[in-house]
Amino acid sequence: MKVLVATEKPFAKVAVDGIREVLDKAGYELSLLEKYTDKKQLLDAVADADALIIRSDIVDTEVLDAARNLKIVVRAGAGFDNIDLAAATAHKVVAMNTPGQNSNAVAELALGLMVYAVRNFYNGTSGTELKGKKLGIHAFGNVGRNVARIAQGFGMQCFAYDAYCPDEAMTAAGVTPVHSANELYSTCDIVSLHIPATAETKQSINYELLNRMPKGAILVNTARKEVIHEEELIRLMTDRQDFRYVTDIMPTTDAKMRELFAARYFATPKKMGAQTAEANINAGIAAANQIVDFFQNGNTRFQVNK
Ligand code: 3PG
Repeated sequence: MKVLVATEKPFAKVAVDGIREVLDKAGYELSLLEKYTDKKQLLDAVADADALIIRSDIVDTEVLDAARNLKIVVRAGAGFDNIDLAAATAHKVVAMNTPGQNSNAVAELALGLMVYAVRNFYNGTSGTELKGKKLGIHAFGNVGRNVARIAQGFGMQCFAYDAYCPDEAMTAAGVTPVHSANELYSTCDIVSLHIPATAETKQSINYELLNRMPKGAILVNTARKEVIHEEELIRLMTDRQDFRYVTDIMPTTDAKMRELFAARYFATPKKMGAQTAEANINAGIAAANQIVDFFQNGNTRFQVNK
């Protein structure tokens, strides 16, 4: 059994060692394709793989066509918008994610971005504190819950909106549930995005919604760039000189944003929310275990293309 780990953005070495150990124990072979720069490299490497572990790497029809032996692809992470699920199903390939495994890392980065923003990007001027501020957590999944836990340590008041999460789960975590995105954005000084990129959410963070936020608002994005309506964000930040945007996913309009809003906009050069040794170990080893469990026991618990 051949398992290809194809990561344009590689795991920490210690995580790859852990994956190798799991696969060795099962008698499977590990093949490694890291930092590839050309899709052709992935198409060649996947040709004889029975299983595939990826991160944000794109798995589309072309990759699935090239992967003639492939039975399972596991996205070592939460969001699986990089996998063409319908194409995977058509190719009889099981697609899985590893929910929760990297969520603390992403949540820590979200809080780090908040501190960076309220301290004026560490430029030496007086900023403000997070303590006492109202934080809006947009989607209360694994990352949102970790954000709430850490933000409470900072003394922030946490609110959350998530149409798919019962109020009780929020109140049990000391978070005030609100029942619409409009209410969340109107209420909170800082909003942290934790929604997936779906047909429903793409470009949903728009002028109308963001303009509800109070003076001095900050939007933090460690989710996906696609959920932002970028043109409308630019229009909003032009109209609202008080509005700040900090993100771990560089917008398509990064150059323009930097030119227009140098003091109020920051994007990491490469998405790094899940770039910690711990998150790589958790997600990478979970992916390897899920592959072994799938082949040995038929376990499809984390399948996302059912
Ligand atoms: C995820 O969906 O798990 C995160 O966005 C992390 O993505 P990455 O593995 O590409 O860093």
